[in-house]
Amino acid sequence: MIRFSENYSLNKHNTFGIKVKAKYFFEFTEPDDLLLFFNSNKSLKNEKIWVLGGGSNVLFLNDFDGLIIHPNIPGIQIVKEDRQNIWVEAGAGEVWDEFVQYAVDCQLGGVENLSLIPGLVGAAPVQNIGAYGQEVGNVVVKVKGFDLDTMLKCEFSAVQCEFGYRNSILKSTFKNKFIITSVVFKLEKFPEYVLNYGQVAEKARAKGEINLSAIRAAIIEIRKLKLPDAKELGNAGSFFKNPEVDTEFAEQLKLQFENIPVYPVKNNRTKLAAGWLIEKAGWKGVREGNVGVYEKQALVLVNYGNATGQQTYDFSEKIKLSVFKKFGVELEREVNCV
Ligand code: EPU
Repeated sequence: MIRFSENYSLNKHNTFGIKVKAKYFFEFTEPDDLLLFFNSNKSLKNEKIWVLGGGSNVLFLNDFDGLIIHPNIPGIQIVKEDRQNIWVEAGAGEVWDEFVQYAVDCQLGGVENLSLIPGLVGAAPVQNIGAYGQEVGNVVVKVKGFDLDTMLKCEFSAVQCEFGYRNSILKSTFKNKFIITSVVFKLEKFPEYVLNYGQVAEKARAKGEINLSAIRAAIIEIRKLKLPDAKELGNAGSFFKNPEVDTEFAEQLKLQFENIPVYPVKNNRTKLAAGWLIEKAGWKGVREGNVGVYEKQALVLVNYGNATGQQTYDFSEKIKLSVFKKFGVELEREVNCV
C-alpha cells in the first residue's frame, strides 16, 4: 500500500502533539513500494527528506517543507533457530511495544526491559533505545533497508551500526539517507534477567515467580509511575541525554554537590543524570505557558496543549543555559529537532 499526500497534517505523527504540516507525506507498507514510488516521482528525490517512524523522538519546529517518508511495513517472523537463540525479523512499521509483547509471549528474552517504550521497530536501532539496563543494540543482528542515494537494498550488521549510548551510524552518517524496512533480532531462549536497575527486581518479585512476563509487568508499572502518557500529555520521553564528562570534573562536582549521581563509564569518563541536574537547577514541575518540565521526571518536557515547536525549543534552551550556569555541564538534546 502506498499513500501519498500533500499539505499533510503531522499532528497525529508526533507524540509531542505539535500542530504542523508536511509539504509531502509518503507512507508505504511493502519494501519495494519505495522504488516504485521514486521511479514514478523522480523530482521528489530532490526534496528535503525526513524519515518518520512513530514520531516519539521528534520535535517539529515548523511546518516541514519537504518529503516525510513513513515506513509502515508490518510483519513479525522467525527466521532462524538454534539451541540457545531464535532470530526474529520484524517490519519497521510494527509497534515496538507489541514486538516486546510478542517476544515475552514466546518466552524469548532480550527486550523485556524495553517494554512500553513508544515508537516503531524501525526507529529502535537508530537511536539504540535503552532502559533499565538493556539496550536494543545488544540484540540487533541486522538492519535491512534501502540506500536512498543508490536506491539499492542493503543491510547493516550490528557492528556496522556502531551502536553507542542513544546513538548509531543510522542516526549520524546515514540519517535520512537509509530507509529501514526491517530489523532482525537475536533473542534468547534461556535469558539472563537484567534486574539490577532501580526497583525492577523488587517490583518483578512482587508479581510472584520472576519470569519475562513479571519483568515486563514491573517495567510497565515503573514507567507509568514516572513517565507521562503521550495520549494525555504530549511529550517525547527524555528530552536530553545523560551527559558524559571527564571523571576529574565529575569528582570536582561531587565535592560541591555531595548527592550528585555519577556513573563511571570508560576511558576516564563519567555519566551524570540530566534529570538530577535539571531538578537541582529548579526546573522540575515548572510550567511556562504551554510548555513545562514533567513533575515526576525532570528529563521530560511536556506540551500542555497548544505549545509550538519553537516555544518548546526555546524553553529547552533556557534549561540548558541554567544547567550550564549552575554546574558547568552542557546538556545535549536527545530529541531530534526538525
Ligand atoms: N533523577 C532526579 N530527578 C529527576 C529524574 C531523575 O534526581 O527528575 C535522578 C534519579 O534519582 C536517579 C538518576 O537521576 O538518580 C537517574 O534517573 P532514572 O533512573 O529515572 O533514569 P534517567 O537517567 O533519568 C534514563 C533514560 C530513560 C530510561 C531510564 C531508565 C536517558 C536519556 N533516559 O533516564 O529513557 O527510561 O533511564 O532506564 O538515557 C527515553 O530515552 O526517552 C527514556 C525515558
